[in-house]
Amino acid sequence: MSMKSISFLASLSLLALTFQFAIAADPSQVQDFCVATNSPVNGVSVNGKFCKDPALATADDFYLSGLNVRKSTNNQIGSNVTFGGVDNVPGLNTLGISFARADIGVNGQVQPHYHPRASEIVGITEGTVLVGFVASDQRLITKTLNVGDVFVFPQGLIHFAANVGQVPAVLFATLNSQNPGTIFVAENVFGSNPPITPALLAKAFQLNVTTIMELQAKF
Ligand SMILES: *[C@@H]1O[C@H](CO)[C@@H](O)[C@H](O)[C@H]1NC(C)=O
Ligand SMILES: *[C@@H]1O[C@H](CO)[C@@H](O)[C@H](O)[C@H]1NC(C)=O
Repeated sequence: MSMKSISFLASLSLLALTFQFAIAADPSQVQDFCVATNSPVNGVSVNGKFCKDPALATADDFYLSGLNVRKSTNNQIGSNVTFGGVDNVPGLNTLGISFARADIGVNGQVQPHYHPRASEIVGITEGTVLVGFVASDQRLITKTLNVGDVFVFPQGLIHFAANVGQVPAVLFATLNSQNPGTIFVAENVFGSNPPITPALLAKAFQLNVTTIMELQAKF
């Protein structure tokens, strides 16, 4: 090999190395999936939303009101979550943050769920709330929170919040994604559309098919 081609190879590998450092990873997702399409005619959005001309932005793009309002928790699970994300606060697009208020009635809960794209910080402004998350080694990390207490749910881990006090509880949350996604464990496993084969779930959950079909009927 000539001296010239060796130095060419060297600079090529240097270039590859630099490129690798410059782009260390793919950009993180801001939606569940973004299937490739060859023509923009069939496209709806990129990873996130299209951007409005900045000159046309108004205060209302960055605004949501009503998080002072108590929501009805008169439902099966006993909670009601009001979420502020890119879908109802368009100014959040590309900012990587969102927020929520959860009303949790006495004996109510925000049932086990996880956010595929965000960690979450919660703070209690009313009531007493038992929170917890399960680590990937199945360890349960749990704590009873009172007004003024703050707790963190790491990204992607199953977590819950249950009112264990005598009065309705209010929890505020912030999440580090404009579109964190919310996967409710029971609903997504037993309420998928179409349903997952009962025999498959019976084996996975070590229950019989009848019980699985009862669960599927509930969700
Ligand atoms: C949440 O609260 C609103 C307003 O109180 C109510 O209209 C809605 O049905 C509630 N959602 C659930 C799931 O209970
Ligand atoms: C399925 O399991 C439930 C709960 O253990 C039990 O009550 C029921 O008899 C079982 N049904 C069948 C068909 O084995």
